[in-house]
Amino acid sequence: MTTTAGLPDRIEDESQLETLLVAPSAELVEFAASLSGPIVVLGAGGKMGPTLAARAQAAIDQAGADAHVVAVSRFSDPAAREWLKGYGVQTIAADLLCQDSLSQLPDANTIVYLVGSKFGTRQNPSHTWAVNTIAPALAMQRYPTSTFVALSTGNVYPFSPIDRGGSLESDPLAPVGEYAYAAVGRERIFDHFSRQDGTPVAMIRLNYATDLRYGVLTDLATKVARGETIDLAQGYFNCIWQGDANDLILRALPLAESPPRPINLTSVETFSVREVATRFAELMNCSVRFSGQESETALLSNASQCSELLGAPATPMQQVIRWTADWVQHGGRLLGKPTHFEVRDGAF
Ligand SMILES: NC(=O)c1ccc[n+]([C@@H]2O[C@H](COP(=O)([O-])OP(=O)(O)OC[C@H]3O[C@@H](n4cnc5c(N)ncnc54)[C@H](OP(=O)(O)O)[C@@H]3O)[C@@H](O)[C@H]2O)c1
Repeated sequence: MTTTAGLPDRIEDESQLETLLVAPSAELVEFAASLSGPIVVLGAGGKMGPTLAARAQAAIDQAGADAHVVAVSRFSDPAAREWLKGYGVQTIAADLLCQDSLSQLPDANTIVYLVGSKFGTRQNPSHTWAVNTIAPALAMQRYPTSTFVALSTGNVYPFSPIDRGGSLESDPLAPVGEYAYAAVGRERIFDHFSRQDGTPVAMIRLNYATDLRYGVLTDLATKVARGETIDLAQGYFNCIWQGDANDLILRALPLAESPPRPINLTSVETFSVREVATRFAELMNCSVRFSGQESETALLSNASQCSELLGAPATPMQQVIRWTADWVQHGGRLLGKPTHFEVRDGAF
C-alpha cells in the first residue's frame, strides 16, 4: 500500500528502507547528467555515506552520465564497503589523516566531504580536533581546483529562542562545547583554503538526518517504547529524512562558492519533543512520561534559504514519524548510535 505522495504506508524491512534511501529524485537525475569523471565521496563509511554514494551512483546511471562514484573511508565497518560494492560504487580504503593516502586518490572535479568525528570528544578531544581540522586541510590541499560540497553541522550555532524560527546562515557562530568548537574549526579550515586557492565549497550545516535505524525520531520512539521518561529540557528540534538530506547535499554542488557558502539543511518546521513523543505513544499504543520543562532556547536552524534555492525536503516528516513508530514497534534493526540530541552542555 502507498500513501498519496507515492511513499509506502510502512517500511517492512531494511531492503525496502535502503531502496527508498538510494532512489534519486528527478531533480537529482537531471543534475547528475552534468557530472563527469570520478565523484569522490570522502568519509563514505559512516551513517550517511553509503546511502549517499549509492544514490549518487543511481542518479548517474539513470542520467546516462559519463561519471562514477568513488567512496573513500577507512571502512572501519567492512560491511559498509561490501554494501557499496553491491550498488556498483567503487571503494577505496584510506585514512584521510594520512597525506600519502590522499595522494593516491584519483583526481576528481567533484568532492563530497562527509568526514567528521563527534562522539567520544569528552574522552579524547584531540582526536575530534584532528579529524575535524586536519582532514579538511589535507582534502582541500589535495583537490584545490575541485568543487566541494562539505558537511558541517547546526552545532556551530548557539541555542536560539524557540519562537525565532532557528539560526540563520548569516548569524555569528557561537558554538556550545568542544565538539561544536571543532566543527567551527572544520568550517574555518575550508574557508581558509577556499579563499587561498579559490576552491568553491557549499558548506552544509545539517541538523539531524533520520533513517529509522538511527536519528532523533528513532531515539525518541525507542525511549517511548521502552517506557523511559522523556526529558523536556531540550524541548524542540529540526530533522530531515536521510534520503532527502542526501539528495539535497548532492544537488547543492552547483551552489558552491569561494569563500564557502553556508547552507542550513533540515526541516522547515520546528518539532516539539512533547508533541512528537505523545504522537509516538499514540501510534505505539502505549503511555509516555515526561520530566522537566521545555527551556526557552534550543538548537534550531532556519532552512528557508535551502528551500528557496533547492526546494523543501520531499518526504513529509509526519510520514517519517509513522514509519519510525512502526519500525521501532516491530523490532526493525537499529544502529545503536544515539544522537544525544538532548545534550545541552555540548559535552559529547
Ligand atoms: N548524521 C547526522 O544527522 C548529521 C548531523 C549533523 C552533521 N552531520 C555531519 O555529516 C557528516 C556525515 O554524517 P554521518 O552521520 O555519516 O557521520 P559519521 O557516521 O560519523 O561518518 C563519518 C565517517 O567519516 C569517516 N572518517 C572519520 N575519520 C576518518 C579518517 N581519518 N579517514 C577516513 N575516513 C574517516 C568514518 O568512517 P570510517 O570509519 O569508515 O573511516 C566515519 O564513519 C559528518 O561530518 C557529520 O559531522 C551529520
